[in-house]
Amino acid sequence: MNVVTVNASKKYDVVIGTGFIDVLGDKVAPFMSGKKIMVVSDDKVFPLYGERAVTSLKNAGYIVTSFLFPSGEESKNISTYSKIVEAMFDAEMTRKDIVVGIGGGVVTDIAGFAAATYQRGIGLIMVPTSLLAAVDASVGGKNGINLSRGKNQVGSFYQPSAVFCDIETLWTLPEEEYTNGCAEIIKYSMIVDNGMFDLIRDKDIKDQYEDIITKCITIKRDFVEADEFDNGKRMMLNFGHTIGHAVEACSGYTVPHGRAVAIGMSAITKAAVVNGYCTEDTRMQLDELLEQYNLLDDLKYSADDLMDKIKVDKKNSSGMLRIVIPKQIGSCWIKEIYKEECHKWIVLGGAR
Ligand code: GLY
Repeated sequence: MNVVTVNASKKYDVVIGTGFIDVLGDKVAPFMSGKKIMVVSDDKVFPLYGERAVTSLKNAGYIVTSFLFPSGEESKNISTYSKIVEAMFDAEMTRKDIVVGIGGGVVTDIAGFAAATYQRGIGLIMVPTSLLAAVDASVGGKNGINLSRGKNQVGSFYQPSAVFCDIETLWTLPEEEYTNGCAEIIKYSMIVDNGMFDLIRDKDIKDQYEDIITKCITIKRDFVEADEFDNGKRMMLNFGHTIGHAVEACSGYTVPHGRAVAIGMSAITKAAVVNGYCTEDTRMQLDELLEQYNLLDDLKYSADDLMDKIKVDKKNSSGMLRIVIPKQIGSCWIKEIYKEECHKWIVLGGAR
């Protein structure tokens, strides 16, 4: 078992290990001053782990209500959010009580937002069950919901009280979910040099989950501690995301997040080589690793279509946007460019 302590506006531990689901009641006890718990999950994850988690929480003496919603990004909306907070009100929850989010990124994002806003903030415990949520969504305090015209347009920064990442829950992941999470892990290996790039090239991520997840969360922790509210350094975590988010949007969200980020990483690195910011060898190494994890793909959308999506990305301001450019494996930097320049980068990255 590994523990990564995050020292942000709230100090909390991210615990990475196995066997947490059946002892969740004991795990949440240090964070409870009330008696009520709202478990937020979806209809795919809850049948796998929810009952066991609820049994453990009930056996520990808590009054547990569960709120389940249909799995998938379509559920991450105002309607689901409003049903969750209404259910919390119906359960007469107060600030002494807590929300436990059990699931992937959609669950942790919406559960986090509900916890952040219900009665101006109640306790939150994250139990990520997807690789993507384990290495990214459940840690660092970002939460939110989508508007019909934009992803994550409503949300807040709200740190959890604890995160329990139970590796047992990753063993049942469908292949595509695994692949999706691997993209974010490859991203971490490109932005910080902690030896992870070689580790995941030489041995499959799923054969070294505990070590790799701990390394990713340690990297994320360092960026969150340096820039909790995403005004500067934390943007490094967006390597591959400017184009990636646009790919997701252009596809009508049929290309999943990790796969889109992989396309974005490959494209921006290709453009960085042409612009003289990194070597062809770096590009080849990245593409080979993406290929190894079945994540290598071309930009299939036009630069104009991608730019239309990038223009409405919430990370942009007053005609400028920041892109993350690779220097070499394990080292990236943030460059501010005009939106018009971005079009050229995208074309160099392989868009039509
Ligand atoms: N997912 C990127 C961040 O948390 O900043």
